[in-house]
Amino acid sequence: MENDDELLFAAEEETPQTAFPVAKTPRKPWKIMIVDDEPEVHTITRLALSGFEFEGRPLQFISARSGAEAKALFSEHPDIAMVLLDVVMETEDAGLDVVRYIRDQINNRMTRIILRTGQPGQAPERRVVLEYDINDYKTKTELTAQKLFTSIVAGLRAYADLEIIEQNRRGLEEIINASASIFKIQSMERFVQGVLTQLVSLLRLGENSFCGSGCFASHEEQSLRIIAGTGAFSEDAGKRIEDVLQTPILDDVNTAIVRHENHFSDEYIVLCFMSSNNRGVIYLENSFALNVFDKDLLNLFCANVSVALDNLKLANELERTQREVVERIGAVAETRSEETGNHVRRVAEYCYLLAQAVGMDEAEAQMLKEAAPMHDIGKVGIPDSILNKPGKLSAEEFEIMKKHAELGKKLLSNSKSRLLDASAIVAYEHHECWDGSGYPRGLKGTEIHIYGRITAIADVFDALGSPRCYKGAWTIDKVFAYMYEQRERQFDPDLVDRFLEHREKILEIRESFKD
Ligand code: C2E
Ligand code: SIN
Ligand code: SIN
Ligand code: SIN
Ligand code: FE
Ligand code: FE
Repeated sequence: MENDDELLFAAEEETPQTAFPVAKTPRKPWKIMIVDDEPEVHTITRLALSGFEFEGRPLQFISARSGAEAKALFSEHPDIAMVLLDVVMETEDAGLDVVRYIRDQINNRMTRIILRTGQPGQAPERRVVLEYDINDYKTKTELTAQKLFTSIVAGLRAYADLEIIEQNRRGLEEIINASASIFKIQSMERFVQGVLTQLVSLLRLGENSFCGSGCFASHEEQSLRIIAGTGAFSEDAGKRIEDVLQTPILDDVNTAIVRHENHFSDEYIVLCFMSSNNRGVIYLENSFALNVFDKDLLNLFCANVSVALDNLKLANELERTQREVVERIGAVAETRSEETGNHVRRVAEYCYLLAQAVGMDEAEAQMLKEAAPMHDIGKVGIPDSILNKPGKLSAEEFEIMKKHAELGKKLLSNSKSRLLDASAIVAYEHHECWDGSGYPRGLKGTEIHIYGRITAIADVFDALGSPRCYKGAWTIDKVFAYMYEQRERQFDPDLVDRFLEHREKILEIRESFKD
């Protein structure tokens, strides 16, 4: 008994907020399930644990009188922290059935399980304890308040740690996903969401949080809008903060923003940050347990978020500008030769289709689609008399014509942009042939970059089916036949096969972007 008391005391010292709860907002309780066919066990357990708090959060009891009832209740409460589980109920091992259900059937590895049995000496086999991650085993004679306290504290602490690990894992995952596709619009939202998720779990805050930002300079946009949020704010991206917060919280947030001062109270924290163009705010709930180190950490974090946001905005802006420049350059090339603008659009769509068909990841497929319209950009350097010659080119003229590949590469390479790099490859290699008979370098097979092999198919397929100053449009059947005939000659045979598998989709593209 002495020992148990000491243990309990020690636990309380580690978490002083348990002894002096100051939070006024209700805190999410820890769910504890009691499974037992003897009604007294429920009564005694609840009594023994009444008023118990761990890390400032009270307990919520869920009672089940049988194994079957326990299983049913579990689907309603997936977030049960601990189960106090009787072994012998409707059957000799009804309790073990519940354990198997929790771990194997619903795949829950988080909930801590304490087995209890009326018959001493009826301990579960070691195998069961190990295999099913059972955290404690007690006979009912050990149901004293102190022993129960100790078990519950240990169990909740383990559960809270598992929960933090899980939240961190999810936060990290979002950050990683966001950085892999940083040039997509939503990446900022995902980045911020990941960071918030980690923060909430590291500091053991409430799950409701958001990060908002707004422009400084612009006059029409005075409001801060939510970039991303967690918990109750997880669906609020894009909304103005005055539409998701109510007074008096909204007033505190606004005051903090106007004065550019952080606001700390037991219920929530408001952190303000500023960058060259933007001001921002981070709102976090249930901060009553924060100590001075946590607050330092938060301030540091804010400084970093503001830099990261600036960088992300810049990256997004840059990507957008580049895309626009690329489109404009593509348009210039189109007007120079008499090909229509829809040629490059169709080529882009065919490339995207092929990229997806070979399993290229979405971000790269998207990039190739944006790069493909540049394949003939080098034609801007070819004299009109050759480019728009109504008849067949002489051998000499064709030699000059061929220079468009290398010219395009020179125009596009040596930039810092991934998109322009990809475009340079496309321009340089779209006339190479699988059998080595192409130009400008006569590359063979997989020496030709996959971007080049894909664009070659898309370009020729479209050129054949379209009228040119030097030829009429071929019928679609003739075009398909040509593509197949050229597998292993002009084209990568696998790619041609993949391409021809998507006849329907190809015809759809042809139809929606016709001249
Ligand atoms: P383009 O018109 O965009 O054609 C792209 C590619 O589609 C050609 O690359 C070729 O592989 C294929 N292609 C187009 N029309 C035909 C055709 O009637 N028969 C066959 N078998 N393939 C065809 P290529 O040959 O390297 O030509 C590159 C560019 O040179 C062409 O781009 C076009 O701008 C120009 N060009 C090629 N031949 C002539 C020509 O006889 N007269 C004129 N004025 N321009 C030509
Ligand atoms: C709890 O902490 O009580 C449940 C776990 C959760 O839903 O985050
Ligand atoms: C889970 O992530 O699978 C459940 C744990 C939790 O709600 O935090
Ligand atoms: C935790 O209690 O372990 C995390 C904070 C929360 O989600 O309530
Ligand atoms: Fe070309
Ligand atoms: Fe072309």
